[in-house]
Amino acid sequence: MDKDAMITYLIGELKKENLELHDLIVPEELEEKQKLLRALFNTRKPMAASTQFLTIQDLYLQVRKGERGIVQLNSLQSIPQDKRIYLWKGDITRLEIDAIVNAANKSLLGGGGVDGAIHRTAGRELLEECKTLHGCETGDAKITKGYNLPAKYVIHTVGPIYKGGNSNEDRLLYSCYERSLEVLIENNLRTIAFPAISTGIYGYPKEEATSIAYDAVIDMLEKNWDKIDQVCFVCFGDRDYEIYKRILKIKLNNIG
Ligand code: APR
Repeated sequence: MDKDAMITYLIGELKKENLELHDLIVPEELEEKQKLLRALFNTRKPMAASTQFLTIQDLYLQVRKGERGIVQLNSLQSIPQDKRIYLWKGDITRLEIDAIVNAANKSLLGGGGVDGAIHRTAGRELLEECKTLHGCETGDAKITKGYNLPAKYVIHTVGPIYKGGNSNEDRLLYSCYERSLEVLIENNLRTIAFPAISTGIYGYPKEEATSIAYDAVIDMLEKNWDKIDQVCFVCFGDRDYEIYKRILKIKLNNIG
């Protein structure tokens, strides 16, 4: 089955699941069909997908993984001051690593932003496993397999929605990083990548969030120096990357 046939099959099955999509017109052009499938992958279904759907979906997502390219952590450069810390501008769903962290919501049933990207790339089985976790409290973290992602596991954490800074948001954001690293250690894993939790849809000011992220990671690295090998901060755009570079520089220069 070629890529076009896989996409056509998957769109057909997703249309059958959802009556609202019944009259949806499927474009002829492969590129447009692929875009439609990407959009439909975010739709959530009440019941589990069929074995045939999952088989074709996995085949398609493996093709896409090859097309999008996998990035290995050891192909990246650590920051000069600390060989355990990496800063990378890129897409966390391309990273081959023990665990990537998902900035999820309390339902753990997917969403937009990095949550949507992770679910689209991993495939439907991620959603099925997330359903068995029965949600996650803000500041806590839970682990699933990575499925079609290059990462072995996904650690889902729920960041605070920023409401001005007087609702314990800083402590809750710190806890997201702390709990994610605790879950990494509990599962005998050693390398992890974080997106900039809460700084997108949840509106946390980026500079402050970056400072909290760094503090939480450094504190955990100090306490668990023999259990964590590498921590990668993943920035999805130039602005985030510049902020991380500036804040890390300030933090590390203060150490002297
Ligand atoms: N790789 C790395 N980082 C990404 C990616 C990606 N593919 N996509 C987005 N990001 C970055 C954003 O640019 C932002 O800096 O992740 C950071 C977090 O943004 P959001 O994904 O919006 O997450 P958050 O602000 O924590 O809001 C969580 O959004 O997607 C929903 O279901 C999620 O309800 C939850 C809310």
